[in-house]
Amino acid sequence: MIKFTIITLFREAIEPYLKTSMMWKATEKGLAEFDFVDLREFGLGPHKSVDDTPYGGGDGMLLRCEPVFEAIESVKAKDSMAKVILPTPVGKIWDQKMAREMVENMTFNDTVHYIILCPHYEGYDERILSIVDYKISLGKYVLTGGELPALIIIDSVVRLIPGVLGGEKSAEIESFSEGNNLEYPQYTRAEDFRGMKVPEVLLSGNHGEIAKWRKDHSGIIE
Ligand code: ADE
Repeated sequence: MIKFTIITLFREAIEPYLKTSMMWKATEKGLAEFDFVDLREFGLGPHKSVDDTPYGGGDGMLLRCEPVFEAIESVKAKDSMAKVILPTPVGKIWDQKMAREMVENMTFNDTVHYIILCPHYEGYDERILSIVDYKISLGKYVLTGGELPALIIIDSVVRLIPGVLGGEKSAEIESFSEGNNLEYPQYTRAEDFRGMKVPEVLLSGNHGEIAKWRKDHSGIIE
């Protein structure tokens, strides 16, 4: 099973998604577990402050080291093997291969545990990187925080755990686990919708031809 502990100021922005559909099913089946740590609890002073202005000047506020280190240490005190992920626009670009590797790291007797630290505001104190194992970017654009990246990372990993999706899909994923994930155009009823027809071959019942058509029309996700 895979466990994600999410350190955030905005649990309410993340939790509903994890309680929906496949993510919820994965939890119910004991294949995934999601936990939250409120960064505010580790804030400084009467206002539980977690950020401050940058040395050298500049706009905005930066996440301070103290609350972040203490929040991460509180999780690691219970599981020293947990790895820390920092979503950041200057990280390694996230892709299907990395999602697959995370699932492959998982053995079914053992829990693999990832801590996702969600920065907010304009950034973080650079010294926070000393406690981070993986810096991950969701793409070359800037978001206001790590909550959406955390959800995307979690969703793309958890759906690959055998048993999370239906039998057919997970088998398909297993068969492509060494190679590329193939995504081909799909159709359901009606056969003719406002003059747009389902390709004939898909109605033919010829499995060989259908497999060939799908391969020829696939978009490849690395
Ligand atoms: N935080 C802000 N922008 C981000 C991005 N593109 N990827 C990951 N984390 C981010």
